[in-house]
Amino acid sequence: MSDLNNKQILIGISGGIAAYKTAELVRLLIKKGANVRVCMTKAAVKFITPLTLQALTGNPVATDLLDPEAEAAMGHIELARWADLIMIAPATADLIARIAGGHADDLLTTICLATEAPLHIAPAMNRVMWDNPATQENCKNLQQRNITLHGPANGEQACGETGAGRMLEALELAKIIEAEFASQAKPLAGKTVLITAGPTREAIDPVRFISNRSSGKMGYAIAKAAKELGANVTLISGPVALEAPEGVHRELVESAKEMHRETLKQAKSADIFIATAAVSDYSPANVANQKIKKTEDKFSLALNYNPDILFDVSHAFPDLFSVGFAAETEDLIKHAQGKLKRKKLDMIVANPVGKDQGFDQDTNQVEVIWQGGHISLPEKDKAELAVEIMSIVSQQFNDK
Ligand code: CTP
Repeated sequence: MSDLNNKQILIGISGGIAAYKTAELVRLLIKKGANVRVCMTKAAVKFITPLTLQALTGNPVATDLLDPEAEAAMGHIELARWADLIMIAPATADLIARIAGGHADDLLTTICLATEAPLHIAPAMNRVMWDNPATQENCKNLQQRNITLHGPANGEQACGETGAGRMLEALELAKIIEAEFASQAKPLAGKTVLITAGPTREAIDPVRFISNRSSGKMGYAIAKAAKELGANVTLISGPVALEAPEGVHRELVESAKEMHRETLKQAKSADIFIATAAVSDYSPANVANQKIKKTEDKFSLALNYNPDILFDVSHAFPDLFSVGFAAETEDLIKHAQGKLKRKKLDMIVANPVGKDQGFDQDTNQVEVIWQGGHISLPEKDKAELAVEIMSIVSQQFNDK
């Protein structure tokens, strides 16, 4: 049976040329057994008729916030409650701005504000409008509120230009919706996992910095594995050469202090925190405004201790399930157990490091340790290891 069987899906349509594709999306969802209702903005009805969508769904199409007849049939609050999931396709720049601003000046924005259902958005607009910092800022705002954006895709646009701004195809959106319902049956569905990854860079002057060999591979693999277990995932990453895994919200940072600030901010809404980042323990006491010249034979740099992100988060949010990583060259288990206690963690993943081991490698070998338990995971690919680590995390989290 399809994951969409009997699911109640509200499709929102705003005024963009891509609205014609939405009729096909609705048809695909109905074919998979979903109950679909459609809400259109005033501009949307200029691109596709409500009659088409009414005929496809077998339900009246909602367009007006102040229509007493429609409100009597199914009012805006009822509609917001009815939906198991809302997908807005296409979402114009204007609609995105209004949702980001918390407006409720028409039926669709009011429903978005009044719903507790997962909200998904498929933007479609001219490529310059998409790249505009105002639109980008609004999209960031939505992502921070756990509203999921899909696309836009690159390609030829209705306006004759080529670039990012095309709405994803109906079939892709139908698959995304199906995957969302499939993930609701997963062990971390509805939970938010916050992950730090990669190295940090501590500026010495405008062109030099202190950093380390961390590639971010482990943290990114953990983020992907957490997403596959159904979680909402936020990745706070130092500079790495990796793409954010599909569906994972990423915030890029540079220094330990920036990572500290962003992580504490995001931790408020997280259920699980996993610190995989190789945070620089120290940063230069003074950052030179200009490039430092080689004037002396000897040069020494005063360093200050950086905040410990994991320690501060686990102490500020005692209910958060906190997981640390420990890279050790000796006495692996003893040092890891010390960190588990000192940093007030629920779990620690310890791995031996050294030449050709751990950092910047595709494989790893770890010991997963928690109060009263210990599992050794032999050397394997970091992606496979991440899946096993996340399975242990999710089990311990759900048992807590
Ligand atoms: N960590 C952190 N913030 C820091 C330093 C470390 O969040 N400023 C996190 C790492 O992401 C990792 C764990 O803490 O999860 C590592 O603990 P730590 O005691 O820093 O390990 P090492 O850096 O290996 O320290 P030590 O030199 O004491 O072994």
